Amino acid sequence: TSLHTFLAALPKAEHHMHLEGSLEPELLFELAAKHDVTLPSTDPAFASPAALRQRYDNFQNLDDFLGYYYIGMSVLIEGSDFEALAYAYFTKAASQNVRHAEVFFDPQAHTSRGVELSTIVESFKRAQARAETDFGMTTQLIMCFLKHLPLSGALETFAQAKDEGFFADGSLAAIGMDSSELPFPSPMWKDVYAAAKESGIRRTIHAGEEGPAHYVTQALDILDAQRIDHGIRALMEGDDELISRLASSKTLLTTCPISNVKLQCIPSIAAFPLKKLIAAGVRFSINSDDPAYFGGYIQENYCALQESFDLSVGEWETIAKGSILGSWCSEERKTQLL
Ligand code: HPA
Ligand code: ZN
Repeated sequence: TSLHTFLAALPKAEHHMHLEGSLEPELLFELAAKHDVTLPSTDPAFASPAALRQRYDNFQNLDDFLGYYYIGMSVLIEGSDFEALAYAYFTKAASQNVRHAEVFFDPQAHTSRGVELSTIVESFKRAQARAETDFGMTTQLIMCFLKHLPLSGALETFAQAKDEGFFADGSLAAIGMDSSELPFPSPMWKDVYAAAKESGIRRTIHAGEEGPAHYVTQALDILDAQRIDHGIRALMEGDDELISRLASSKTLLTTCPISNVKLQCIPSIAAFPLKKLIAAGVRFSINSDDPAYFGGYIQENYCALQESFDLSVGEWETIAKGSILGSWCSEERKTQLL
């Protein structure tokens, strides 16, 4: 419909995008060749970029996707790889009128392979500076810890980032947690969230994607999380107490509709709880999660929802404005963007 042009032009903020999840198969193969990284020869999906894309159409669940996601990012080795990855995403996002982006990265998946934390952060910062100069786009980095690794690793990575001054100097805007969800409920991460809170560092966490609504409640109660990534299970389970709490506390849910379909968290876009979010007055944003793996950047997510829900221009303006209001940029920047 004609609203697609309007949705593309609408100034937007994105809050849920894993930089490693923007690694397109072509760049993945290019970097594998450059660094002589051997991709799994027993999996026919790694025969070519086209075969890999085809495999991405058939994720069974979150963990099935994550297997490919961690293999894919193993081709990121030099600082220039990280810079090129981030700049390619910023370029694409700017073309879809993303004016402010808060992006995730998974340091432990790289430091475990011998890449220095400072190499990762400094390279992303170079891409961020270029995005601001070239596109007038502001960006912030959110450092995520991996739920499938022990708490000790998250604590060590947090301490290292803090010691290197990356929070104090604004290089890192917040912490988050991602990766496999069901076996790793929110309370497990109490110590690292307490450490972040004590240092005055913002906190978000993936919860209520595949896992139940009470992982979201625990993230609020035990981790004092200020934002929830996904969180749709709260709406899907109809946890009314949690829903009113999210609404009254203005906690932002960073939702990712195409991701939810691709990982089979919901059967179709029509099952995405958009009307419930709006009716309950829960603040939310619409995001791409891992666009290279799920086949859509932010605009495709807005348009997919429009195809199923046929919202009005006014409703879309409220959603896009809500994404800016829920951002972690300065109040001054918000005013510029509104
Ligand atoms: N969920 C959990 N972990 C992730 C995701 C996700 O959607 N994307 C990248 N890591
Ligand atoms: Zn995510």
